[in-house]
Amino acid sequence: MTKKSDLIYLVTNYLEQQAELGLNELYMSKKTVKKSAVSSNGNWQDSKTLAELNSKIHGCTKCRLAKGRTKFVFGVGNPKAKLMFIGEAPGRDEDLQGEPFVGRAGQLLDKILAAINFKREEVYIANMVKCRPPENRAPETDEMDTCHPYLLKQIELLKPRIICCLGRISGQYLLQTKEALGKLRGKIHDYNGIKLMVTYHPAALLRYPEYKKETWEDMKLLRKEYEKLSA
Ligand code: URA
Ligand code: URA
Repeated sequence: MTKKSDLIYLVTNYLEQQAELGLNELYMSKKTVKKSAVSSNGNWQDSKTLAELNSKIHGCTKCRLAKGRTKFVFGVGNPKAKLMFIGEAPGRDEDLQGEPFVGRAGQLLDKILAAINFKREEVYIANMVKCRPPENRAPETDEMDTCHPYLLKQIELLKPRIICCLGRISGQYLLQTKEALGKLRGKIHDYNGIKLMVTYHPAALLRYPEYKKETWEDMKLLRKEYEKLSA
């Protein structure tokens, strides 16, 4: 079967050839035009609110992950949150419910939040990619590249003062580094003027409880930085 990306490439090539030959109009049935207008997310960049952004991008088909998703997992939380958590990608439960961090890792995240006196509703939670990768594999770089403009727009609209990356994948991507998680955690980085921390992914804590001690240190640091915002 032809891959969608190959197909787009072929069609683009064909149209460019036709344009060179002087063809500058295309005919499409009214039905097709209507359908593409509905599924188009062409002006999502102009969104003024997170809700508007979600409504414009939730039908996204820009990468291969769209095919396997049940629900697009935009993000959840207080649109005025000063603290934003960024995970990796939706898992099975998230894909079914359309909300990030609702499965086992999410329940642990809720406990971690409670331990530093945050309610889930107070913060904002999103992922690097909005659709579930098959077999819960890590998102691939090209998938993150394709999805990243959406996360950037979320950050622009939310204007968080602190970002906490959950796990290596989002930390390395946002800081554009290959440094190990052990080197990235435990300190405050700068991300375009926003304080950024990296800590262990809750799913990693479920597998390696020995990381909990360092995570607790990170969370205390996070709370301290948060208190500074309103001091
Ligand atoms: N793991 C993630 O990184 N994100 C989720 O939403 C759930 C599990
Ligand atoms: N390795 C990872 O990739 N993530 C973690 O959170 C911990 C170890």
